[in-house]
Amino acid sequence: MFSLSGKSILITGGTGSFGKKFIKKILTYDIKKVIVFSRDELKQYEMAKEFSDPRIRFFIGDVRDKERLYRAFDGVDVVIHAAALKHVEACEYNPFEAVKTNIHGAQNIVEASIDRGVKRVIALSTDKAASPINLYGATKLASDKLFVAANSYAGDKDTRFSVVRYGNVVGSRGSVVPFFKHLKESGAKEIPITDERMTRFWITLDQGVQFVISSLDRMSGGEIFVPKIPSMRVTDLAEAIAPDCEIKVIGIRPGEKLHEAMITEDDARRTLDYENHYVIQPEFSWWKKDSSQVGRPLEEGFSYVSNLNNQWLSVGQLKELIEDKTRKW
Ligand SMILES: NC(=O)c1ccc[n+]([C@@H]2O[C@H](COP(=O)([O-])OP(=O)(O)OC[C@H]3O[C@@H](n4cnc5c(N)ncnc54)[C@H](OP(=O)(O)O)[C@@H]3O)[C@@H](O)[C@H]2O)c1
Repeated sequence: MFSLSGKSILITGGTGSFGKKFIKKILTYDIKKVIVFSRDELKQYEMAKEFSDPRIRFFIGDVRDKERLYRAFDGVDVVIHAAALKHVEACEYNPFEAVKTNIHGAQNIVEASIDRGVKRVIALSTDKAASPINLYGATKLASDKLFVAANSYAGDKDTRFSVVRYGNVVGSRGSVVPFFKHLKESGAKEIPITDERMTRFWITLDQGVQFVISSLDRMSGGEIFVPKIPSMRVTDLAEAIAPDCEIKVIGIRPGEKLHEAMITEDDARRTLDYENHYVIQPEFSWWKKDSSQVGRPLEEGFSYVSNLNNQWLSVGQLKELIEDKTRKW
């Protein structure tokens, strides 16, 4: 059992959608302090006004800057790595920048964590990292590989690295929900949809934060934790937000998939199935096999893909979910 009591926690990207929610939650634990690590002073300034808890600290820094990470990680027990360039199109147009933040940044986190004696590191990944077709997904897959392999780099030091992978987050910055809502509120008659067959996984920020915290407790190092979450049809989402608008099909965008995968068929061969989540195990010999014997192997041919899910959100459920983002599914 890993206790957060008395621990110093650092979150990269702490001013982002995930970061803010994570900090709100982590401050309900008996932690020593939580450090927000990100670049933009304005976001930190605004966040400081919102959070008055003396256990929260703000650190300006860029994950591309290893020296700065070494300074920030001094005395830190747990690192949550949420900083990323995450917009598919921005990454396609600025590939060198995506590589610097998402891949070089990940390497810097690994090295600073080992050298500064951090105990546990969780990096956030995305469904777009499974069989990626865009650069964002490809950089996140590379990042996942770095974090899994980091456990062997750590050698006899006791730093452990794991990854949490999940899908679309309801209402996060730049996501489709605020976009559709904005269209509706500005009186649009049409909602643009790239393809009527499109499906996506769906998770609330609360669920994402809770899953990361429970994975901190479960991790031995090297796992990719994947929560079992529902799927939705994008046409159902449009109907839930703007039932009076027409759907206008605009065609699939570069780098966009019809359906997202979280566990590919190849990864499924080394994945264990638990009640509420899956664990993709690393392929290295240093992996400590699941000693609890609770996780079950998956059947041959299994893949965890948004259109083949056995849990679906109806239009009514999507409506409720959008109106009450704190609701747990
Ligand atoms: N939102 C989703 O639907 C979703 C789904 C699956 C996985 N994820 C993953 O979850 C993580 C968090 O996503 P989010 O939605 O919270 O993102 P977000 O709202 O865009 O926040 C990104 C955060 O990262 C910081 N950041 C960006 N580049 C940085 C750099 N070079 N150095 C330091 N900080 C940097 C940003 O602050 P500054 O700009 O001030 O630096 C911000 O605090 C990401 O790793 C993403 O890939 C998100």
